[in-house]
Amino acid sequence: MEISFSSMAALVALAMVLMAWIWRFVKWVWLKPKFLENRLKRQGLSGTPYTPFVGDMRRNSSMLSEARSKPINLTDDITPRVLPLPLTMLKTHGKSFFTWLGPIPVITLTNPEQIKEVFNKIYDYEKPHTFPLVRLIASGLVNYDGDKWAKHRRIINPAFHLEKIKNMVPAFYQSCSEIVQEWERLAADKGSSCEVDIWPWLVNLTADVISRTAFGSNYREGQMIFKLQAELAQLLTQAFRKAYIPGYRYFPTKSNRRMKEIDREIRATLSGIIGKRVEAREAPNDDLLGILLESNSGQSKGNGMSIEEVMQECKLFYFAGQETTSVLLVWTMILLSQHQDWQARAREEVMQVLGDRKPDIDSLNQLKVVTMILYEVLRLYPPATQLSRAVHKETKLGDLTLPGGVHVALPILLIQRDVELWGSDAGEFKPERFKDGISKATKNQVSFLPFGWGPRICIGQNFALLESKTALALILRRFSFELSPSYVHAPYTVFTLHPQFGAHLVLRKL
Ligand code: HEM
Repeated sequence: MEISFSSMAALVALAMVLMAWIWRFVKWVWLKPKFLENRLKRQGLSGTPYTPFVGDMRRNSSMLSEARSKPINLTDDITPRVLPLPLTMLKTHGKSFFTWLGPIPVITLTNPEQIKEVFNKIYDYEKPHTFPLVRLIASGLVNYDGDKWAKHRRIINPAFHLEKIKNMVPAFYQSCSEIVQEWERLAADKGSSCEVDIWPWLVNLTADVISRTAFGSNYREGQMIFKLQAELAQLLTQAFRKAYIPGYRYFPTKSNRRMKEIDREIRATLSGIIGKRVEAREAPNDDLLGILLESNSGQSKGNGMSIEEVMQECKLFYFAGQETTSVLLVWTMILLSQHQDWQARAREEVMQVLGDRKPDIDSLNQLKVVTMILYEVLRLYPPATQLSRAVHKETKLGDLTLPGGVHVALPILLIQRDVELWGSDAGEFKPERFKDGISKATKNQVSFLPFGWGPRICIGQNFALLESKTALALILRRFSFELSPSYVHAPYTVFTLHPQFGAHLVLRKL
């Protein structure tokens, strides 16, 4: 059989393309990880041995499943259940170590000086983009880097200034008082006390607050978006645990298809809301979307955000602002149920400062005990338990030289419970440690970072704290609460730190 010259050339070309692919693959799955591992080991860092492709993802996944299979006692340390692999590594390898996210080495840091540097040098330590699916739920500011991040942060900042947020206190009040009234009805039906799983109520509360404060007049459509985002978060969490299967996100599985469908629905609803606002050219609304559009339109040509980008930021407010705040509130109520003395002190303060009046920014700012309690809950139960960054080029970090291609993990939960940083009572609930503020409690170290740190610190922290104070004030002045006998203590992460079996409390009308 004769092979023509052109077929021969095509075969050679094909073979070369194939060889190039095989080379790239071998480099990605073996040569680069081993090269990086050597560089880390030469600097005295130790870690898990590299398993091609999957790294520690399977091990992490099975350690998490094992940890989640049994609840713990209220007084137990939650870290073995929430971050089992990093904790085991910390015990065996010391303060800095590496593990593997597939073929990427992840260096965990717990030294406050190193953490400060990572948070401050935002151009050297960027956001990792390992799971592109995450963009479905949390794109926008939280995911951008470099100049694009700086531009968006500048435009969005005004929407979160205290001057603007203080006008949202009535919306916080409205959503919170609706829930309190519902609980009062439930308690009245049962005499004067009732058992309630407060977790779904608090999830709805914070979703309601975001729908109202972000979308004001488009509140109902906002609520729809929230329902879809919540479903998406569930599906994404399941997808992450299979992320070690190469190309899994492209498989046409039922859940992958549903995720795309939800994404389309959310985008359609949001673009409808934004489109109507832009077309109407009405006086700017005092909601987050209104302030954002106003700040955006005040930019010189080419310096503003596109409608698509505004849409991403609105989606992000839901994800970043709703879930985290409901988590803060639920652990606060659980810990105040366990520590009745602090519940009584907080109530006394609320009655003194607010009495039966509607809260406003000034009265909320006077709630010192409530603030101490919220900080202590954020320390022991940080909604985001771990943050990470990617290093793209060789970077000096103290004595270490980080090669390009590694990630850095900042385990907030481990740092905030570290006995060397917080004392031998680090695991105990002692809000008094914050009586003179955060810098005194931390001795000016970067050891309290529930909202992150540095230029990329949470843009919504004032919003979250004011909302939480409003909710607590309203609840405390109407109810006393304790853990129900059916409460099961089982913190676990679904992006943020959830109570796995809900939060069953007994509410007693005062
Ligand atoms: C208790 C409540 C909250 C907690 C614990 C929390 C936590 C955090 C953390 C840890 C970061 C930093 C992420 C990193 O550096 O990788 C962050 C960033 C962010 N948060 Fe929050 N957050 C809360 C509430 C909110 C609220 C209410 C909103 C908005 C409505 C919000 C919007 C954002 C945004 C947009 C970013 C990205 C900032 C940037 O990269 O410049 N957060 N948050």
